[in-house]
Amino acid sequence: MGRIILGTGSSLPSKVVTNEDLEKIVDTTDEWIRTRTGIQQRHISTTGEYTHVLAARAAANALEMAGVAAEEISLIIVGTISSHMLMPSCACFVQKEIGAQNAFAFDLNAACSGFLYALDLADKYIHSDKEKKILVIGAETLSGRLNWEDRNTCILFGDGAGAAVVGHSDSDRGFVGVNHFSDGNLWNLLYMHTAESTNPDIKVKDWPGAHIFMEGREVFKHAVKAMDDAVRGLMQKTGIGLESVKLVIPHQANIRILNNLVERLELPAEKVFINAQKYGNTSAASIPIALDEANRDGRIEENDLILFCSFGGGFTWGASLLKW
Ligand code: UT7
Repeated sequence: MGRIILGTGSSLPSKVVTNEDLEKIVDTTDEWIRTRTGIQQRHISTTGEYTHVLAARAAANALEMAGVAAEEISLIIVGTISSHMLMPSCACFVQKEIGAQNAFAFDLNAACSGFLYALDLADKYIHSDKEKKILVIGAETLSGRLNWEDRNTCILFGDGAGAAVVGHSDSDRGFVGVNHFSDGNLWNLLYMHTAESTNPDIKVKDWPGAHIFMEGREVFKHAVKAMDDAVRGLMQKTGIGLESVKLVIPHQANIRILNNLVERLELPAEKVFINAQKYGNTSAASIPIALDEANRDGRIEENDLILFCSFGGGFTWGASLLKW
């Protein structure tokens, strides 16, 4: 313990796309989207609102709350799968935008679990040097990676970014435990290519385009079971009962997945933070956006136990417990 979140921030593009707007683009209805996913609207980037731009805004908000200057940051990790360039990393662009000249920076690709994995790395990195302050960010503009003619996927996702400043504390607050997993055997249920290879020898046969592809039903089943198992395993590992948890902040995949999880874990609904109806699935950004919203809404107090859980392409999934 002893590594805590000093401040949180988030940023969403200003353009809102409602389910009714999507009815004009693909063969869908507001009613279908609401009943199958609980999503009512999502924020979508417009001109210049690249992933790193949203990430930098979220970072600036988190730094302000933490009372930490950008120059004090020694590491920036961005969980993302939708930076506008493969190189440099989104994290390097964030460094440039906020002026964090003393940091080193890199991206972490774990799809929707990116923020939680990055938080885990930050925790362990600070362990080696108490003076370090780290920016952990989840940021996505998946709107640029969707096939807007595929109603199975384009209705689910939204853009946004969330950030947390992690630093040392002499108290017993901090990260209590983590339980992270991945399974590359199941990659083909949820995936996205990069640009088509220019090397004919390693060209993907029948390259389908750099869009998200998903077997929705299969992903749904795996997501619920995996998060359930990860949470139960974590509680067992830490010896802490779920009843002691003050707030659960899950990846906001969609409300039906979350309702299933709540039922399986027998959680009181009011303990689970849900904002997917407003933002859709923002992948790696969903947990830090929800965390910032809960934090700014006064839903979290010092020493509260906060439980996070995530699931995404890879598959990647996990749970972590934090004493705020
Ligand atoms: O971080 C993890 C990311 N992934 C997810 O969160 C997705 C997890 N999966 C799901 O949440 C659900 O599988 C979906 C919401 C994606 C789909 O719900 P479903 O109940 O599993 O529907 P389905 O894929 O089995 O499709 C049922 C029907 C199909 O029509 P037919 O074949 O029965 O005639 C689909 O073509 O619904 C149709 N459909 C739609 N209809 C209207 C699929 N998408 C739409 C749509 N509007 N947008």
